[in-house]
Amino acid sequence: MKDILTAPFVEEMKETTANMYRLGWDERNGGNISYMLDEKEVGEYLDLDRVIRTIPTGFDATALIGKIFIVTGTGKYFKNVKNDPETNLGIIRIAKDGTTAELLWGYRDGGKFTSELPAHLMSHMARLKVDPENRVVMHSHPTNTLAMNFIHELDEKALTHTLWQMCTECMVVFPDGVGVLPWMLCGTNEIGEATAKKMEEFRLVIWGMHGIYGVGKTMDEAFGLIETVEKAAQLYMLICNRPRVNTITDEDLVCIAKGFGVKYRKDFLNLK
Ligand code: 13P
Ligand code: ZN
Repeated sequence: MKDILTAPFVEEMKETTANMYRLGWDERNGGNISYMLDEKEVGEYLDLDRVIRTIPTGFDATALIGKIFIVTGTGKYFKNVKNDPETNLGIIRIAKDGTTAELLWGYRDGGKFTSELPAHLMSHMARLKVDPENRVVMHSHPTNTLAMNFIHELDEKALTHTLWQMCTECMVVFPDGVGVLPWMLCGTNEIGEATAKKMEEFRLVIWGMHGIYGVGKTMDEAFGLIETVEKAAQLYMLICNRPRVNTITDEDLVCIAKGFGVKYRKDFLNLK
C-alpha cells in the first residue's frame, strides 16, 4: 500500500487550501472543499474495507452511494491543512443507506466533515446530472465578492452583467453566469437544496452576504471560476464610487462570446 500522504489528491487539497488562504478568501475555518475521488486510485493508498467510523449525514445522498470524497473538516483552518492533512481532511464514502458517511481516513482528532456537506453533496448530485465529469465543489469567502454583495443588487442577471463588464475574460470564463441566493442560514439542508437547484444551471453560486460556491471537473476549474469572479468584484469595488468614463458594452460582450465561441446567457444582456 502506498503512503496516502504522497497521494496526488491529498497534494491538490494541500495546495488549493493554502492558495485560498494566501488570497485571503478563507479566514479561520471559512470555506470548504469536497473532491470526488476514483475508487481504484484511493485503493492504492487505503484498505477500502477498513471503515474507521461511520457518521450520519442527516440527508439523503442515494445517488452517491459508494462514491468516495476527500472533504475538509468542520471548524478546521485552511492555513493548517498543509502541515497536518490527516487532522484537517477526511476521506469518506457514502454508505449503502445513502445517509451515512463511512470514514476511511483522516479527521484524526475525532472531527468530522464540513457543516456544509449538504450543499456540497447535493451540488455534486445536481452537477453530475448536467456534467458527468464534475468532481469538485468549492466554497469560499472571497473579500471583494462579499463586499460587493452589500452594495450591489443581489439579482443574478444584474450581478452577472456587472461582473462580465469588469474584465474582458469574464464572459469567456463564466458565460453561463452566476446564480445568486439571498442571505440564508448556512450549514442546513435547506441552503443545500437551494444551492443544488441553482447548480442545475450555474457552475457558480453566490450565497448572499456569505460567500460563493464554484464547481468543476478539476480543482483548477473550480478555483479559476471563483478567482475570476473575485478579480471582477475587486475591480468593481475599486471603481464603484468613481465616475465611469469607459465601459465594455453589451455589443462588446457579444463580440467576446462570438470570438471565443462560448455559449452564454443571452437573457443576461440588455440587447434589443
Ligand atoms: P465549516 O468549518 O463547517 O467547513 O464551515 C465553514 C463555512 O464556511 C461555513 O459556511
Ligand atoms: Zn461559509
